Amino acid sequence: MIEKIQQLLAEVEQLTAQNAEELEMLRIKYLSKKGAINELMADFRNVPAENKKEVGMKLNELKNRAQEKITALKEAFESQDTGGCDLDLTRTAYPVDLGTRHPLSIVKNEIIDIFSRLGFSIAEGPEVEDDLHVFTSLNFAADHPVRDMQDTFFIESNDTDVTKNVILRTHTSSVQVRAMENSQPPIRIICPGRVYRNEAISYRAHCFFHQIEGLYIDKNVSFADLKQVLLLFAKEMFGAETKIRLRPSYFPFTEPSAEMDISCNICGGKGCPFCKHTGWVEILGCGMVDPNVLEASGIDSKVYSGYAFGMGVERIANLKYQVKDLRLFSENDTRFLKEFEAAN
Ligand code: DAH
Repeated sequence: MIEKIQQLLAEVEQLTAQNAEELEMLRIKYLSKKGAINELMADFRNVPAENKKEVGMKLNELKNRAQEKITALKEAFESQDTGGCDLDLTRTAYPVDLGTRHPLSIVKNEIIDIFSRLGFSIAEGPEVEDDLHVFTSLNFAADHPVRDMQDTFFIESNDTDVTKNVILRTHTSSVQVRAMENSQPPIRIICPGRVYRNEAISYRAHCFFHQIEGLYIDKNVSFADLKQVLLLFAKEMFGAETKIRLRPSYFPFTEPSAEMDISCNICGGKGCPFCKHTGWVEILGCGMVDPNVLEASGIDSKVYSGYAFGMGVERIANLKYQVKDLRLFSENDTRFLKEFEAAN
C-alpha cells in the first residue's frame, strides 16, 4: 500500500491541466468519492495495525497534496480567465487613443466658468427659431435694412407676416428673448450655442459658428456694471495685464451699443499682423438692453434696466490659440484636435 501511495504522490506532484475540463477530470480521478485516494482510504481498514500509523500519515499527506495541487491549478486558471476567448493577457497593452475635448469646447467651458463665478447661469434655446425671437422682439424693424446685417438661412418664409418665418438663428441673442419671456428679473444668464449665417465658407468665415450671449436685467443696472464685468472677464480669460476699450457701435437691440476690444494678447499691444498693427483686437458686441426689447418680452422698462453682450467662441479661441483657418474647427481632423490634448 505504501508503494501505491508513493506512486500516486509522485503522480500528483506532476499534475498539469490545459483547461478547466482537464482539471475537473483530474479532480474526479483523485479526489471524488470513487477516486483513487478514496479507494485507498477504503482499503485502509485492511492495513495491519502496526502499519496503520505510518500508512495513515502517508495517506493523509497524499490527500492534502492532491487537494493543494488541484486548488493551485484552479487558481491559475481563474487568474487568467479570458471569458472563453483567446486573449493574450500577457501581451503589452497597445496605446489606447483617448479622445480629447474640442478646442471650442475648451474655450466655451472656460468662458462659462468665468461667468458662473460671477453669478450667471446657463440658458439655452432652439437653433431652429422663428423671426420673432431672432429679429422682431430684438427691435429689428420688419422693413429695416438692418435685417440684412445677418445673412439668414430660411426654413419657411412667410410673405404676409415675416415674424412667422422659420429660420436658423443667426445669433444667440434669441435666447435672451426666450429668457425674458419666461421669467421676471433679476435675470442673469449666459447662453452658449451654435448660430448659422449664409456665408461663403473660407478660412475666415463659415456658415455656422458659436456664440455666447450674456444678459443681466435688474433694477439699476448701469453701463458701469457692464464695463466692470467685461473687464474682469477679459483679465480672467487673457491675463491680468489685459486692457479693454469700448468703441461706440450700433445694434438694434441695445442702446447705447458698443464693441469691445482687448489689448492684443499676441503682441501685448505693441502691434503685430494679428491686430493689424493697432495693438487692439475686437472681441465682442455689447450695450444696454433697448427699452423696446424689454417691453416686447413683457418686462417693465421703467422699473428695470439691463445690459447684454455677445461674443464669438471661434474668435476667442483664435486669440488664445491663433488658429489661422476657421474651417479647421469643423473638419474633425485628428491631427488638429490632438494639438489641444495638453489644454484638456
Ligand atoms: N448678436 C450680435 C451678433 O451676432 C452680438 C451682440 C452684440 C450681442 C451686442 C449682444 C449685444 O447681446 O448687446 O453680432
